Formats: sequence, structure tokens, C-alpha cells
Amino acid sequence: MEKTIALRVNGRAVTVTAMADTPLLYILRNDLALNGPKYGCGLGECGACTVILDGVAARSCVIPLAGAEGREVVTLEGLGSSSAPHPVQQAFIEEQAAQCGYCMNGMIMTAKALLDRNQNPTMDEVRRALSGNLCRCGTHVEILRAVMRAAQLLSSPGAHHDDQPNARPDARNAIPADADPCGADGGDRRPADR
Ligand code: FES
Ligand code: FES
Repeated sequence: MEKTIALRVNGRAVTVTAMADTPLLYILRNDLALNGPKYGCGLGECGACTVILDGVAARSCVIPLAGAEGREVVTLEGLGSSSAPHPVQQAFIEEQAAQCGYCMNGMIMTAKALLDRNQNPTMDEVRRALSGNLCRCGTHVEILRAVMRAAQLLSSPGAHHDDQPNARPDARNAIPADADPCGADGGDRRPADR
């Protein structure tokens, strides 16, 4: 049975009517047009779908919509834009930390959650935080460098700290093209009968 559920996404209050067990990822992508989170495995194992849920990196493919009720969700679109990237996005651009870019959403959101709680992580801490995020292209070295650079950027005077400058559902205008170079949309693997 469908249910109407209220949550906040990128600083904006939204209500969604859907089956309560619909994965949050499907809601974000299909109902709210937020295509930053990607569908990778659908099993909570690859990290491509990572969002920040109440301040913690979380895998939206295995979180039911009901599990997000009343909570604060931040997607990639809640960070920066092409013209004003968030420091984490800027660092990934500067380190050229992408090949196909499919893992980038998860890497950036996981890094953001880490840097929110630890502004000066060691390389080991970064490695541990990202250990559950898979990159099939083997861009790990650049990604680790990017997170370390992001920490530097965030600690520099005048750093851009706005978390949610794009509190609107039009994701496609908000994803820095360099952070998602292939424009992969992750495929809409939502069950057709919903
Ligand atoms: S798609 Fe969610 S963890 Fe792989
Ligand atoms: S999966 Fe291609 S850059 Fe990570």
C-alpha cells in the first residue's frame, strides 16, 4: 500500500507518495529527478548510491523510503554546482580523480561525510572511510589524493562551506560535469510495476 512520507532533501521539505519499502534511491532519482546518486549493485555493496542521511554516509539503494521519513537527506546536488563546486568536488576535479566517473557520487558523498566529522584526516583514515566504495576503473590513488586535497581546501581561509546551495530538485543542472564526466545516469532500474 502506498504511503505519503515527508522528508527533507537538500534543505527542502518534500513529500512523496509511494510504497513504503521503495528504495530511497528510486525516489531520489525517479520522483525527485536527483540523478547524482547512482545505481550500481542495488545491494548496498558498491557505494555508488551514497547519500548523506542525518549527517552520515548511507546507501540509498537499501534504505526504504519509510526509513528516511522525517530525516535530512543530502545528495550530490546538495553540494555544489558546475560554476561553484563544493571544495570536495573541486578537489576531485583538480586531482582528475575520475575515469568513467560512475563511482564519483559515492566517493564524493562519503568523503564529504568524513570531512564533516574529521576536518584533518590521515591518509589511513581516508582509506578506511572509502574502503567500502568500489571503483572499477582503479582510480583509487587519485581519489585518495583528492580527499586529502579537499581537506586542505576546506581548511583554507574563505573556503566555500555552503552545503546546500542547490536546494532544488533539478539535479542535472547541479552536477559538476567534471565530477561526472561520462554523464552516466545510473540507469533507472526501478520496478516497472510501481
Ligand atoms: S547501488 Fe547502492 S551500494 Fe551499490
Ligand atoms: S568506477 Fe570508473 S572512475 Fe570509479
